[in-house]
Amino acid sequence: MAMTSSLLTPDERSLDRTALDVLFHEARTANGFLTQPVSPDTLRDIVESTKMAPTAMNALPLRVVFVTTEEGRARLIPALMPGNVAKVEAAPVTAILARDLEFHEHLPRLFPHAPQAYFDGARANAEPMSLQNATLQAGYFILAARAHGLDAGPMGGFDAEKVDAEFFPEGTRKSILLVSLGYADSSKTFPRNPRLNFEEIASFA
Ligand SMILES: Cc1cc2nc3c(=O)[nH]c(=O)nc-3n(C[C@H](O)[C@H](O)[C@H](O)COP(=O)(O)O)c2cc1C
Repeated sequence: MAMTSSLLTPDERSLDRTALDVLFHEARTANGFLTQPVSPDTLRDIVESTKMAPTAMNALPLRVVFVTTEEGRARLIPALMPGNVAKVEAAPVTAILARDLEFHEHLPRLFPHAPQAYFDGARANAEPMSLQNATLQAGYFILAARAHGLDAGPMGGFDAEKVDAEFFPEGTRKSILLVSLGYADSSKTFPRNPRLNFEEIASFA
């Protein structure tokens, strides 16, 4: 029987080592992909998981275009930094992650208990709110892809204006990140780089 996390103890809720390795410790950024296709159901699962992670006012400003066809790739590739072309050509899917500047239109449904002043504030702050929250959701998206068994290759190396002109000509969505998805060709994965240690990242106050 499915149990909601609130019914589980903190110990029961803690992921086991395998899950932590899949999400964080052993997961690697994909730099090349096998030809194995990705099922549309898996892409749906990624979105269904991503949307449950928190955003301010439950605003959910992230929008996703899954580029899965040769025609789609041909529209995307001219906007890529040269170093990212081979990866996108090899990946069965590349997700264009964008923020919706009109996310506030959905707030009366997504955050119904709030007074109108909250919705007006979100509209006035649509630019920074959409950037902060869609960027958060982009992080959730990468982890959701890993959680559903895929490898992800996030890429900031692209011309956002070109992508937006091609995929979002209406002007209300702006691309923030590309994420190639599939099953990694680990022979192409870069050597692991070091991480900062705990004391360099965190302190107590
Ligand atoms: C926001 C973001 C932008 C990135 N842009 C690129 C990119 O344009 N091209 C590329 O090859 N890798 C890109 N990367 C991949 C990072 O270099 C990689 O995730 C990081 O070095 C960690 O690698 P690891 O997960 O294998 O340890 C990007 C990653 C993120 C999160």
